[in-house]
Amino acid sequence: MNWQERPRCDETPAWALLQRHFAQRFAGAQAFDLRLAFAEEGARRVERFSFDAPGVFADLSKNLIDDEAQRLLTQLAQQCGVEVLRDALWAGERINTSEQRAVTHVHWRCGSNQALALDGQAQVAIENIASMRRRMAEAQSAMLDFADAVRADAGITDVVNIGIGGSDLGPRMVVQALRSAGQARGPRVHFVANMDGHELAELLPHLQADRTLFVVSSKTFGTAETMQNAASARAWFAAQGGRDVARHFVGVSANTAAVAAFGAGRCFAFDEGVGGRFSLWSSIGFPIALAVGRASFEALLSGARAMDQHFTQMPLGRNLPVQLALLDVWNRNFHRFASRCVAPYHHGLRRLPAYLQQLEMESNGKCVDVRGRTVPFDTAPVVWGEAGSNGQHAFFQMLHQGTQPVPVEFVAVRQAAHALEGHHDRLLANALAQARALMLGDAGDAPQRHFSGNRPSTFLVLDRLDPAGLGALLALYEHRVFVAGAIWGINSFDQWGVELGKRHAGLIERALGSRGETDGAAGDPSTAALARRLR
Ligand code: F6P
Repeated sequence: MNWQERPRCDETPAWALLQRHFAQRFAGAQAFDLRLAFAEEGARRVERFSFDAPGVFADLSKNLIDDEAQRLLTQLAQQCGVEVLRDALWAGERINTSEQRAVTHVHWRCGSNQALALDGQAQVAIENIASMRRRMAEAQSAMLDFADAVRADAGITDVVNIGIGGSDLGPRMVVQALRSAGQARGPRVHFVANMDGHELAELLPHLQADRTLFVVSSKTFGTAETMQNAASARAWFAAQGGRDVARHFVGVSANTAAVAAFGAGRCFAFDEGVGGRFSLWSSIGFPIALAVGRASFEALLSGARAMDQHFTQMPLGRNLPVQLALLDVWNRNFHRFASRCVAPYHHGLRRLPAYLQQLEMESNGKCVDVRGRTVPFDTAPVVWGEAGSNGQHAFFQMLHQGTQPVPVEFVAVRQAAHALEGHHDRLLANALAQARALMLGDAGDAPQRHFSGNRPSTFLVLDRLDPAGLGALLALYEHRVFVAGAIWGINSFDQWGVELGKRHAGLIERALGSRGETDGAAGDPSTAALARRLR
């Protein structure tokens, strides 16, 4: 099968069989019940629906799924050509068709010495990929050298990463995670993303201009928020008597000319093929290297690489990213669950839901397929969540007794990185207890104390929140998003949906700044009236 001619999920025989199976086994009064499934299957069910991947263990057994559904879903992946699209990704084909770009983030973590997994590719393609990886490895090595130098420079106490979306969420989450796991030394690393000046204004008084390095991270170097914050930081720097902009501002971008025009002394470049939400492995990972150092950054890449190997080599039926994506399709298109709650039971992973919101919803929140046809099924669910156990005292009421089940994804870490007694066992017990309570329910002695149970959840386990484990987890999520997009037949690598709002913002900004003479630019009466009120 050619990757361009892959069928969409609803065009495959497996899809029709899944619909029939769902109607027979999962709908109506005789619907599938997890408690009965466990009573019948016992520990075999856990074995059947558990997956061991590098760095991550996953138990999917508490989901509303049976052997036959899993078998048909795996056929669905195969019939949708997930493997050929995966091979095309690794071979540097332009699978981001609406932007006519190859998708290159995986190559940033391959290193120039790694064997090329490009069976059946033309020699010229192999050479192109090899030279691309060499360029990436060189850029990475320059970036890591500079990070080392900054870390060794006692004169730099603070680093401020200015970026938004993928140029913020991934690095911010990783720095937070590894810092809490005790991996961080070196300068303090701060992140500023929002165009809301409160964020930058709150940080500036804590900085000394001559001891601060600003990293302006933006693939395009044209994103409004980032340019505004960078300009304000540069103005503040000058106002503090700072003269050497070139020394105190570094750019990370695919647009090297714009970085030079801004006045940054150095630019760590990366290629257009790296999508924002997939970019933390590339030069965009610079703040990570500054915060945790070269060895940890390299371990992060190696963890991701181990997951890449699992993804490219494991048969679909035992392939964790594939099986998680199939579960997502099953939950979204058959059970029709509109959202998924992510509950990381580790303080260091508290920004994981925010990171996943961009990764999953910007990638797969689409209603048109790669051929431009409106899709007749739902795509990305809403992804939301909060660190456990905090979430238990906020929205878990709804998870247990709300009108609709919401699949919950627990992420637990076996070993703690702190020595406070009692906390970690208790935390893990709570994660397990929540998953069990959702499944078992309770008849209760009054309607208000009744829990229906049979509510699905997935349990992911990391051994430790170390760089390699985190790298594996994040690569797992990336591949899962890729597979779900491949099955839905959409392009997971563009994001046209963010453009329209940007266009309106430009017009409205002018109306807000005027004295009323350009109210018309704000467009409709509601927007114009609100603009007048806000002016
Ligand atoms: O929100 C749209 C988007 O293009 C994201 O995809 C991207 O991560 C973010 O803006 C930031 O883009 P840039 O790195 O070009 O500033």
